Amino acid sequence: MRKKIVAGNWKMNKNLAETGELIAAMKRNFENALEADIIIAPTFTNLYYAFEECKDLKVKVAAQNMHQEEQGAYTGEVSADMLKSIGVETVILGHSERRAHFGETDALLAKKVNTALAHHMTVIFCFGEELKDRKNKEHFSLVKHQLKNGLFHIKDEDWDNVILAYEPVWAIGTGETASPEQAQEMHAFIRKTISEAYSTKISDNVSILYGGSVKPNNAKEIFAKPDVDGGLIGGASLDAKSFVTIANAIS
Ligand code: PGA
Repeated sequence: MRKKIVAGNWKMNKNLAETGELIAAMKRNFENALEADIIIAPTFTNLYYAFEECKDLKVKVAAQNMHQEEQGAYTGEVSADMLKSIGVETVILGHSERRAHFGETDALLAKKVNTALAHHMTVIFCFGEELKDRKNKEHFSLVKHQLKNGLFHIKDEDWDNVILAYEPVWAIGTGETASPEQAQEMHAFIRKTISEAYSTKISDNVSILYGGSVKPNNAKEIFAKPDVDGGLIGGASLDAKSFVTIANAIS
């Protein structure tokens, strides 16, 4: 079922005490019944705490990454089973910072997707073009390539556990947002690409989030577009008021 979703990617921010403060401030602000499903993704060390704190709220807790292997000699890594054992059932995969700074390729992401789905986790699959791709008018083909190589091997039924996050790299953390029209144009293209590779039933049902400098002052316009089902929020998710305002911009 296509859902409205607002997810906060906290990245490498907030220690344990700060995580507690941010969740408490969010709780104080979530007074109205929200239209959207809310997800927050704190860092690994604070996931269990966040899960416990958010249990009674309509807020899910997600990991920002995960290793593709089940277990073993992978120093510093975290497995799907470890996440599930603390109640975390959602994982962000393919964020552009993972791709850029940690060499994550489409082929590696395809493996991570398989592992997450095998563990019945929900995957927030991120992808998006760089500025040079858009300047060269290659943004559509690049996005199609990322989807085909990282995701389009999954079975029809797996789509129930996939959320897409289109995040143009040039808009992440830069203050430069894609215009609502640019976001809509790409989201419609993504839906068409999925309907061609799978079916319209699947493309109609998948939630496609936009990410990249979504702020309280631009969220409403972006979320109003018919193929935009919500947002993946970085910087603005670190401030409770901003994040809740963005969540309330979903109608
Ligand atoms: P931003 O980050 O909102 O700070 O641009 C978005 C993201 O990286 O998911």
